[in-house]
Amino acid sequence: MRSSLAIVAATSLAGLTSAYPYFQKNQATCKPFSGNFSIQQYQLYPENADFDYTNCVLYIGQLWNASLGIYDPYTEKHEIIEFPGISHNSSFHLGGVGVDQATGHITFIADAGNTFNTMGEDISGTNWLFHMDPRNRTILYKVNLTETSQGLYGGFQDVEHDPDGNVFVVGTFPSSVLRVQKGGKDVRKWYINEPVDHKIKGMGGLAAIGWTLIAQGDTSGKLWRFDMRAEKGTPTVIPVTGNHTFGASDAIYLPRKYNGTVLLVAEDEIGTSVFRSMDEWKTAEFKGLVPWNDPRGLVTGAVQVGDGVYTILEPFGDEGVKGPGTAGSRSEFLFRDISKEVDVLLAA
Ligand SMILES: *[C@@H]1O[C@H](CO)[C@@H](O)[C@H](O)[C@H]1NC(C)=O
Ligand SMILES: *[C@@H]1O[C@H](CO)[C@@H](O)[C@H](O)[C@H]1NC(C)=O
Ligand SMILES: *[C@@H]1O[C@H](CO)[C@@H](O)[C@H](O)[C@H]1NC(C)=O
Ligand SMILES: *[C@@H]1O[C@H](CO)[C@@H](O)[C@H](O)[C@H]1NC(C)=O
Ligand SMILES: *[C@@H]1O[C@H](CO)[C@@H](O)[C@H](O)[C@H]1NC(C)=O
Ligand SMILES: *[C@@H]1O[C@H](CO)[C@@H](O)[C@H](O)[C@H]1NC(C)=O
Ligand SMILES: *[C@@H]1O[C@H](CO)[C@@H](O)[C@H](O)[C@H]1NC(C)=O
Repeated sequence: MRSSLAIVAATSLAGLTSAYPYFQKNQATCKPFSGNFSIQQYQLYPENADFDYTNCVLYIGQLWNASLGIYDPYTEKHEIIEFPGISHNSSFHLGGVGVDQATGHITFIADAGNTFNTMGEDISGTNWLFHMDPRNRTILYKVNLTETSQGLYGGFQDVEHDPDGNVFVVGTFPSSVLRVQKGGKDVRKWYINEPVDHKIKGMGGLAAIGWTLIAQGDTSGKLWRFDMRAEKGTPTVIPVTGNHTFGASDAIYLPRKYNGTVLLVAEDEIGTSVFRSMDEWKTAEFKGLVPWNDPRGLVTGAVQVGDGVYTILEPFGDEGVKGPGTAGSRSEFLFRDISKEVDVLLAA
């Protein structure tokens, strides 16, 4: 069953135009939008974000408050959704958020915040994964990822969906990927870096196109590709041409406007590196860097909003109002439009 599925899909992946049916379903339903924007909201502290191309809103993981933001870039309306026992509880950070563009449902993670505060020294605690219908805020399922990791590995911080609605979760201490079956009933370890040493910081970013999962941040310094149809995740190195060595990095992203051919990697202190693949990520080319070294914080992600491609800056430099590891007093958060810079690099 699985192998015959694999053959059918592999055949359809042969030509570039037929390679990306997933993005073509709801193409161009949102009105044009671009240019720098700021969200005026006390203690937003955006760690990660994803845009819903059907409902045209931006979902934001609001780190320190462990709350979820829903921002409408057209009206500038911003809503906050809180979760009892999690929001305003310093045991949790709300980080990675991803939209299943096929259903409009979202998946996000409230992770054991101390894992990141201690850089993997202390990975104890509960890590919640939520799957939600944001239109009526129904939690469709939630799972405690620590039940699967048994506290041996952690730092769960980003999610992707395959075309069937299964969820893939990346863990950073050390590199791991969990697979959550559609509906949340079955959760399993899909990939783990051996030996399992949670003091080793590994990959932090995932991006998916069709059945291909791209991962970045492993100590190998390579971009990896996985086949999400496989029973177990086996990484394949994506050979990259061009001269680039990754610095400390975070989320990775495939803006929809490039049909999955352009990958953006958030590199904490230097900016956003740009890669392109013309062969379904069998190989890639480094196209250059959109620099951003900002004393306010770190570059933690990229996201397409409307037609614009944006860099997310997390102001980690702010002093916590309630002490270290809590939200600062900032109430304006810049999303920087890097569309033109990315296009210049791609044209070179
Ligand atoms: C964070 O919590 C504070 C209250 O402690 C609240 O005023 C603020 O609106 C919240 N912000 C977000 C983005 O959750
Ligand atoms: C905060 O989360 C921890 C860990 O799940 C839990 O034990 C504690 O009861 C929570 N605190 C509140 C006030 O909900
Ligand atoms: C939420 O909306 C979905 C359809 O989008 C529907 O199937 C579900 O029953 C709704 N849930 C509630 C609690 O209203
Ligand atoms: C989550 O799972 C871990 C490991 O089984 C357990 O120790 C922890 O109590 C669970 N958290 C909750 C809130 O049930
Ligand atoms: C590669 O890039 C580094 C850093 O930008 C630079 O120092 C080095 O000279 C480059 N090497 C080549 C062969 O271009
Ligand atoms: C992406 O695919 C759409 C639909 O097939 C096509 O109209 C568009 O030109 C493509 N864009 C890029 C950048 O390849
Ligand atoms: C967008 O914001 C960045 C960072 O503050 C700034 O350098 C750039 O000039 C801004 N772009 C526009 C068009 O205002």
